Amino acid sequence: MTTLPIAHADRLSSPEVIANPYPYYRELRDHSPLNYIFLPAGTVAGIEEPIRAWALMKYQDVYGALRDHDTFASGRNPLAGKIAPKLALIQDDPPRHTRFRRLVNRTFTQKRIDELTPWIQAVTMELLDEMGSGEIDVIPSFAIPLPVKVIARLLGIPGEDYFTLKRWSDAFLAFSSMAPEDRAVSNKEMASYFGRMAVARRKHGAEDLITALVEAEVDGESLDDAEILGFCMLLLIAGNETTTNLLGNMLGILADRPELWKQLREDRSLVDAVIDETLRFESPIQRLPRNTTRDTELSGIKLPAGSTISVYYGAANRDPLEFPHPDEFRLDRGLHNHVAFGAGIHYCLGAPLARAEASIALNTLLDRFPRLERGSAPAVRQSTSLVVFGYQQLPLIFSAAN
Ligand code: HEM
Repeated sequence: MTTLPIAHADRLSSPEVIANPYPYYRELRDHSPLNYIFLPAGTVAGIEEPIRAWALMKYQDVYGALRDHDTFASGRNPLAGKIAPKLALIQDDPPRHTRFRRLVNRTFTQKRIDELTPWIQAVTMELLDEMGSGEIDVIPSFAIPLPVKVIARLLGIPGEDYFTLKRWSDAFLAFSSMAPEDRAVSNKEMASYFGRMAVARRKHGAEDLITALVEAEVDGESLDDAEILGFCMLLLIAGNETTTNLLGNMLGILADRPELWKQLREDRSLVDAVIDETLRFESPIQRLPRNTTRDTELSGIKLPAGSTISVYYGAANRDPLEFPHPDEFRLDRGLHNHVAFGAGIHYCLGAPLARAEASIALNTLLDRFPRLERGSAPAVRQSTSLVVFGYQQLPLIFSAAN
């Protein structure tokens, strides 16, 4: 069993470690999988005992667990449906997952994303016109609105409802910082909104994803209203904050590397490498759960059936055995193996969309601003969610002159 004292590893859910987990991952990785308290008693209303989990931090263990969905299940989380409504797809196992994924693969296509590209470009320009130049907190003015507007557009939700969507999505994730009653009200509002949308699209179709979902059929099977609702909620939650954090993390990294900014302005072929290296170096999703369906063993440690597992994508992406000099941000890695979008059957459905948004955003910013630097106000990392890694506040100076 693990040689580390449990109390040591329990710092994983402390605000300081959430805000800057990488030094601690380095300390813990060699001892992984290690057993730790991932939710202290009382964090979630109604759960009186601390919840323990096994943290997987080595690349090989993380990749192996993600590929072995029979042993490391996504649909058996005892907390799912308790602290938030159970999500389709990401909290499903085969055969339900297989059926659902086939249906949505039909609708969430590269073609649909390509069609959306001119529109993403136009929204990016609009947001940057509003943002102006000089010192700006890029999170509220750009990194938050871009992904929400894109998802709203994809789903066919009127633009003016975007603040409401953002509020629902935040409330869904705020399980340690919002009263459970308030979250329940918000989740209910979101559910009835999407319910009404699905009914409306069944009556009168439109050129949007909800209509495509209503009409989708594979082998004579289609989605019912509850499934459509669950999927819309999932897109809103899975696609918003993640992309916001990719944009914020990428701009924070580039603000610290003025020479790289200059180089990128001259050579846009490096943009894709910047996006992938950002995903590896500061992964927007740090940790997600699994539950073991049978006794298994990883790195010589026995994990009994029914164990709660924390898959640390962020730690795996800094494993020196897989990524030499993992704490250096480098564009010459030829990355094809990071796990920022997961691996196996749950591989991120929205990865092409997230990449398209990041590429359009970065290219447009490079066109407009010869220089990018840190602002004078402090940057603040989020320090409450165990799942995501990103900035709450990121003041940057966008200079229109050289
Ligand atoms: C940088 C942005 C993003 C990151 C880092 C990210 C990361 C991830 C990861 C790690 C998973 C795998 C979850 C698991 O292993 O259980 C995942 C799944 C998923 N993502 Fe993303 N995601 C991003 C953007 C998006 C966007 C824009 C959308 C949709 C609009 C989206 C929709 C989904 C869905 C539906 C799944 C579930 C797939 C399944 O279970 O079959 N994601 N994402």
